[in-house]
Amino acid sequence: MNAPKSPRPRRIGALCALALIAVAGCGTTGVPQTIARGGAVYQANCAACHGTNGQGQPGWRRQNSDGTYPAPPHDASGHTWHHGDGLLFRIVKEGGKVYETPGFKSSMPPFGDRLSDEEIRAVIAYIKTLWPPKLQASQGEAAKTDPFP
Ligand code: HEC
Repeated sequence: MNAPKSPRPRRIGALCALALIAVAGCGTTGVPQTIARGGAVYQANCAACHGTNGQGQPGWRRQNSDGTYPAPPHDASGHTWHHGDGLLFRIVKEGGKVYETPGFKSSMPPFGDRLSDEEIRAVIAYIKTLWPPKLQASQGEAAKTDPFP
């Protein structure tokens, strides 16, 4: 008698192995523990403004009357993925003042006094999991010339 055909579990196993190689190989995301830690940091410090799923605040493209902006999304609909790791790190550590211009006041707070460098790297690793592979790859390119400090 033939053994029952079961191609599925094997295929899933192979996919997992590939995914692990991709994660370890390109370094755009991170190890599961780092991502879990980053997720906890995110929910405790960022979700109130950027949304529990990284969806941002409604109308985030419209400037408030005081010259600030609502918090933008961190998912694929925003532009967080346009920035390299170095700039993302500085934005979280030093706050939005790193990109303020005369006509624009940022309300993104600095977290350097509340989060360790490791926690900042972890929260960025978590945010990367909100992007589809194509955006992760694109951001990975930007991160090559602008890596974490
Ligand atoms: C008090 C609300 C508030 C909190 C809390 C907050 N942010 Fe922000 N964040 C903003 C606003 C508003 C902007 C964008 C406009 C600006 O700079 O004023 C921003 C922008 C950013 C950007 C730049 C996004 C881009 O597309 O350029 C990053 C990255 C970011 N925040 C990460 C975080 C992380 C990570 C946390 C938690 C550790 C966090 N923010 C907590 C309000 C907040």
